[in-house]
Amino acid sequence: MNIQDELQATIDALVQKGKGILAADESSPTIAKRFQAIGVESTEENRRTYRCMILTTPDLGEFISGVILFEETLGQHTDDGIKLSALCLQQDIVPGIKVDKGKLSLPNAPGDEITQGLDGLELRLKGYKQQGARFAKWRDVYNINETTPSLLAVQANAEVLARYAAVCQAQGIVPIVEPEVLINGDHSLARCAEVSEAVFNEVFHALHRHQVVLEHMLLKPNMIVPGKLNPQKASPHEVAVQTVKILRRTVPAAVPSINFLSGGLTPEVATANLNAMNQLDPQPWELSFSYGRALQEPALQAWKGDAANTQKVQVALYQRARLNGIARYGKYNEAMESNH
Ligand code: 13P
Repeated sequence: MNIQDELQATIDALVQKGKGILAADESSPTIAKRFQAIGVESTEENRRTYRCMILTTPDLGEFISGVILFEETLGQHTDDGIKLSALCLQQDIVPGIKVDKGKLSLPNAPGDEITQGLDGLELRLKGYKQQGARFAKWRDVYNINETTPSLLAVQANAEVLARYAAVCQAQGIVPIVEPEVLINGDHSLARCAEVSEAVFNEVFHALHRHQVVLEHMLLKPNMIVPGKLNPQKASPHEVAVQTVKILRRTVPAAVPSINFLSGGLTPEVATANLNAMNQLDPQPWELSFSYGRALQEPALQAWKGDAANTQKVQVALYQRARLNGIARYGKYNEAMESNH
């Protein structure tokens, strides 16, 4: 298969009605934080056990088309010696891989950060592909305060994101392009909209400069929401209208699907917001999910490190995936939270 056909086949497998992506690619420090919250030590064995458990959730593939893994997971096996990436394929779920190497402070831009990981990326991608990964993810973050993000941060992060995407496509790996304007702080919804518009706009200009094929990538943005510490909350409808407005201004119609991150929203709010977007007029792209916390939080709470809870974990994950699958059609309602 030539590279363009290969990329298109992966897009077709990832972008399906009623389905979205599970982000299970927490880096070592992040998974340690999640485990600590439920009193579990973050050892390699515990991480393997947990991830085996979620990936063997019966029928997860009904609502999940792809899963983003962390490098360590790609090399791990079940107790029966099955590769975890092969477990995904058994459920018709495409395995992907987080390839950025986290963030550093950006020199001469106080309060801003830059994502690293371009050095050696081509070689790493070849290895990941051999291990079964067919798509990748790279996350840029933008902090909102009075002076950030600076123009320098917006431009520098867009540049690395586009370079990453171009390297991925050259290797036949579909890039997920993730610019995340963080929810931290007390900023207004309008300020989130203003910053996100500038960020997404710059990202697509950089993608164009690097000749990234828009049909063969996915966008994973934040939703337009007020800062977490802002007492004024926004309804799902308000979030949906503002988010779609900013995306329509900045994201070309050639992009097949927009898969939101949950970014600290509760599972219920993340589902309700996605649902509200899918109740608006039809858009040029699919509106879907690529949630980490909003899919896994109830599962982690159900687990608490005890193997006896395996079934509860899988039921919790399946239920969240199902509700988000319903939200893909705009047919979710709050009553479904208790009816299962
Ligand atoms: P959250 O949905 O928890 O924000 O995670 C998504 C993700 O992959 C962040 O990079």
